[in-house]
Amino acid sequence: MPQSPIRKLVPYAEMAYKQGKTVYHLNIGQPDIKTPEIALDAVKVHSLDILAYTRSEGSDEYRNKIANYYSQHDIHVSKDNIIVTTGGSEALLFAFGSVMDTDDEIIIPEPFYANYNGFSTASGVNIVPVISKIEDNFALPPIEEFEKLITPKTKAILICNPGNPTGYLYSKEEIKKLASIVKKHDLFLISDEVYREFAYDGVQHYSIMQEEDIAEHAIMIDSVSKRYSMCGARIGCLVSKNKAVIATALKFAQARLSPPTLAQIASEAALQTPQSYFDGVIEEYVARRNTLINELEKIEGVKVAKPKGAFYCIVELPVKNSDDFAQWLLESFDVNGETVMVAPAAGFYSTPGVGLNQIRIAYVLNQDSLKKAVNILKEALKVYKD
Ligand SMILES: Cc1ncc(COP(=O)(O)O)c(C=O)c1O
Repeated sequence: MPQSPIRKLVPYAEMAYKQGKTVYHLNIGQPDIKTPEIALDAVKVHSLDILAYTRSEGSDEYRNKIANYYSQHDIHVSKDNIIVTTGGSEALLFAFGSVMDTDDEIIIPEPFYANYNGFSTASGVNIVPVISKIEDNFALPPIEEFEKLITPKTKAILICNPGNPTGYLYSKEEIKKLASIVKKHDLFLISDEVYREFAYDGVQHYSIMQEEDIAEHAIMIDSVSKRYSMCGARIGCLVSKNKAVIATALKFAQARLSPPTLAQIASEAALQTPQSYFDGVIEEYVARRNTLINELEKIEGVKVAKPKGAFYCIVELPVKNSDDFAQWLLESFDVNGETVMVAPAAGFYSTPGVGLNQIRIAYVLNQDSLKKAVNILKEALKVYKD
């Protein structure tokens, strides 16, 4: 199993704390935004006297309400198209297990969410990367690039929309292009849409589930973790209109018995969160993004692709190896007792040697902290020698 590039520097951060340093965490997508009270209250006042298992596919009430939430986003599904999972992570594992056998191949635009490496290793399948570039702002590579990679072992294409770690938001046209490829080659299109609400600059998110033509091919991954800042609830879901996919994923769900019961109660209540909550959250993230990008662009030799969604960006640095740089920041550098923790980007690629001079930044801190953190990066780059 590959190590998580997001978590592997934790021991160095702990050493920095022991030395009394403050560490700005730009490495992990743990939002500092408050969870909606309505979700927390639902757990406080529940009327259960036995904390029992629920159905393996999740409670009927919750799945009905998720279907209703999707209909407000022009995604028309019923509870029978939904399996509630223990986070989006488990939904991804179920999707991989349901549509691929060992040694099958899945095409993923890279850089991609690093744990896709872990899920594919766990499922015994091979990732075939198609490279998207910082110079193109991480736009989808041309269709021909995908088609060149399709072999008899290819079973699926996986995208993340909006993207972690790139912040890229796929256009309707790009989704249509992907739809045409999966139809032509009879593949599954798995779309990780856990950041759906986080689409900026007035651009509407367009889901693969809105492409009625590929209903049999489409599998959507979702989660409450980021939408409601409920990462610890561990609730997500897998959505597909393909009955065989749902029947197979259900077998995986039965093997692990049930998604967490209390967290389903919280997640069901969270669905009542008013639009004003999201408006406030989006406004905050846009302000953070703008501050971060402005500050980064002031640093000589730094290149950054402006994210259009989610809360991450890939930053190219004038260093040879960002793994070493990130470790050095924690071990040997500070500005007035403060330093930063970033995620080296090589772990977000499966092509060896790519992304070595890049880092991923999660802008999950307030604007003041972001400014301080970028200033630390700037000062560090002045003195760092690789
Ligand atoms: C793109 C993406 N997919 C899936 C997940 C999994 O999240 P969870 O299991 O908390 O739903 C994450 C978490 O950061 C993510 O960034």
